[in-house]
Amino acid sequence: MFKAVTSIAPAASSCCRRGVLFRSSAPLTSFYQLNTSACFSTTSQLMASTEFKGAKRLEGNYGNVWVEYIALTMKHNALNLGQGFPDFAPPDYVTKALVEAVTGPNVLLNQYTRGYGHPRLVNAIAKLFSKLHDRPVDPMTNVLVTAGAYESLFCCFQGFINPGDEVIIIEPFFDCYEPMTRAAGGTPVFVPLRPSKPGSLMTSAEWKLDPAELESKFSRKTKALVINTPNNPLGKVFTREELEMIANLCKKYNVLVFADEVYEWLLYDGHKHTRIATLPGMWDRTLTISSAGKTFSVTGWKLGWTVAPDHLMKHVSAFHQNCVYTCATPIQEAAAVGFELELGRLDSPDCYFLELPAMLQPKRDLLAAQLQEVGMLPVTPDGGYFMVADFSHLGVETGDDSDEPKDCKFVKWLIREKKFATIPTSAFYSKEHKSVAENYIRFCFIKEDSTLRRAGDILKEWKRSLKQ
Ligand SMILES: Cc1ncc(COP(=O)(O)O)c(C=O)c1O
Repeated sequence: MFKAVTSIAPAASSCCRRGVLFRSSAPLTSFYQLNTSACFSTTSQLMASTEFKGAKRLEGNYGNVWVEYIALTMKHNALNLGQGFPDFAPPDYVTKALVEAVTGPNVLLNQYTRGYGHPRLVNAIAKLFSKLHDRPVDPMTNVLVTAGAYESLFCCFQGFINPGDEVIIIEPFFDCYEPMTRAAGGTPVFVPLRPSKPGSLMTSAEWKLDPAELESKFSRKTKALVINTPNNPLGKVFTREELEMIANLCKKYNVLVFADEVYEWLLYDGHKHTRIATLPGMWDRTLTISSAGKTFSVTGWKLGWTVAPDHLMKHVSAFHQNCVYTCATPIQEAAAVGFELELGRLDSPDCYFLELPAMLQPKRDLLAAQLQEVGMLPVTPDGGYFMVADFSHLGVETGDDSDEPKDCKFVKWLIREKKFATIPTSAFYSKEHKSVAENYIRFCFIKEDSTLRRAGDILKEWKRSLKQ
């Protein structure tokens, strides 16, 4: 209501003095009655003037898979294995550190801190990433703290992509890469990972890029390539050889890399995470993006960062400075305390970065076994906390004859009929490649065992009912 009044007020100035409008204590209804009778023609102009067009760069970017499926999940009060967040407590040293930051003696921790990152946090991140990247990482010039990895990604796109530039996106991809490319005026160019043995049990390593197809996507217009390893939703951990192939193409065509490595610690069965920035000649062209939400199981804290060389970082930092500017100080302080503790025990099994995947691997196996039991074909992930599974052999009739991909219809049916929420995998592929993934749906397994068992019970019960 208030918005409607303030937005039409300037246009009303020809027959209703703005001062009167804003100072009036009359109820809004009488304001509207007064003005509709007193100056009808101006009012119709006013109505038209409230139809403000959104910015062009938003075209095609309204809504997304999360908005749609979260609303459906809530509407049906469904068990949620769709969205990626833990339903258990984070390590208590970070939550205690947050309480201490907010209520402790250093009251300034409740105030603004340095815009590019709280000094204690950037120091800790720089120490850690100097080890991980095996090179000095300067806390003041090579680290930028952002509102989640999401903002880091946004600043990378805005910091480098111009209208006319192309961005190569490896599919399946975290869905925001596409609108972020377009919002910067760029054109996304997609190249899919494909299953090498569709219709059978696989691991995420068996989803592969075709190197010739990838090279065919590079052109004079290519400015950047986005890679996510370990990958959401597949859980694929790109091998060193795969990353070398990608890195060599980026060097050959002089292309930047946005490396989304938010699941960097979540590795199973001894898999190793290779950081593309550490490959020869790659530091100077790579922006590496991470997330405290994923690292410390605190997704609601929305804290992330970018690590990059000075000459790249200055563009990303400039964008951050002109939008978010400064992230929440207590959250940064608490994350810094967490990093300082873990830095002292990086190779010990007590380190949360190793403890968490050790805790998740049996959950992954429990979910995979349950999915197999009901006739789905899970793709065992080597990393991350999602698993996709082929449901096509179940032969479910959803009764939905829309032209949506099969997985979207199946997920909607599961939410509606079985009160069980997952996410369609085709949402992580571009329009032209959705068919690669439409037999798969995505499950999140960073959940209590009891949640995963409830999911298994729903599926088993459904299976039983099919036999009757
Ligand atoms: C691949 C990937 N990148 C980035 C993000 C965003 O991370 P954050 O919550 O830190 O913004 C997510 C969150 O799910 C993700 O899966």
